[in-house]
Amino acid sequence: MKKTLYILGIETSCDETAAAVVSGDGEILSNVVLTQLDDHIPYGGVVPEIAARAHLVHIDSIVDKAIQQSGLNYTDLSAIASTTGPGLIGGVMVGMQMGKGLSHSLGIPFIAINHLEAHILTPKLTEGIDYPFLVILMSGGHCQILSVNKLGDYTLLGETIDDAVGECFDKVAKMMGLPYPGGPHVDKLAQLGDENAFVLPRPLTQHQNCNFSFSGLKTRVRHILADLPRKEDGTFFDHDIHNMCASFQKAVGDVFLNRIQNAITHFKTLHPNVSTTPLVVAGGVAANSHIRAIMTQSAQTLGVTFHAPPLNLCTDNGVMIAWAGVERFKSGITNGLDVPAKPRWPLLDLNS
Ligand code: KG4
Ligand code: ZN
Repeated sequence: MKKTLYILGIETSCDETAAAVVSGDGEILSNVVLTQLDDHIPYGGVVPEIAARAHLVHIDSIVDKAIQQSGLNYTDLSAIASTTGPGLIGGVMVGMQMGKGLSHSLGIPFIAINHLEAHILTPKLTEGIDYPFLVILMSGGHCQILSVNKLGDYTLLGETIDDAVGECFDKVAKMMGLPYPGGPHVDKLAQLGDENAFVLPRPLTQHQNCNFSFSGLKTRVRHILADLPRKEDGTFFDHDIHNMCASFQKAVGDVFLNRIQNAITHFKTLHPNVSTTPLVVAGGVAANSHIRAIMTQSAQTLGVTFHAPPLNLCTDNGVMIAWAGVERFKSGITNGLDVPAKPRWPLLDLNS
């Protein structure tokens, strides 16, 4: 009897220690995520050294939990997939070494996963869509629009020329005194505000390309905040924070909608025989309720089908690593135990 394919995925590239088991046909057997948020909150951002040490403390128990939750034994696994980049190198090495150690002791293949590729392949698992598709990768470290032609074959249609969108959410949140990471707080408080309260720029929307720029938007927010009245303790009034969150989110959403129109045109020239264009969002900012709502509303007008993974699979997790492992394993791609960890590893440089 043919053995079922089961892959353990390990993710440690930022501040989540995560592990999951996914089967060859896309069943999620377990999904364990430990976020280190409390460790980093006092510093207002992720401290690489603290993150690496925390991964080291927790990795054994998180992997063990993922195996237990899956109802399998280690010996049922077909391969181990770990993020080997890009990310904070100390953390990446912890998850990578754990994966290599397990692969060696179990005598099964090791698969080196690019964290960005894992994000963009997630909608294939959760939405069941097929290649080719158009993806906007919106995360803490990246903001890119890509045509995902097939596994490992990606065309970059546009990217940020300065800050990543998640980074911009986090910086704007910090200016308003909101905790790290700011994205989810901005999202929540925006529900209480007026999106037309403050006039903010929509950078690069006059340009006929798919690039992004967020630094001017961030600076404009800083200038507006500097002129706002403050409470006696120096903090902003709640209504101003709510209005700024709503106005900022609206501006970001408008930028995405504008850029996407150019990307769709580009995608159609790359794939003239594809009748429907699936548009997917991936990465932590894809959890944003406003962005999801406007994309859903605009899909028909834009002539695309819109797909967004469930919220918990947008932010970093082990399922996406295991699934990228499944796709690679099925294509016959595994790695030797000498594969290096890479702090920088652009998607268009996958085989370097
Ligand atoms: O993909 P991710 O978990 O980690 C990276 O690979 O970067 O993305 C983290 C980013 C953070 O900047 C966080 O603030 C943002 O995703 N984020 C959000 C939301 N949830 C997470 N941004 C806006 N709205 C949200 N609901
Ligand atoms: Zn990520």
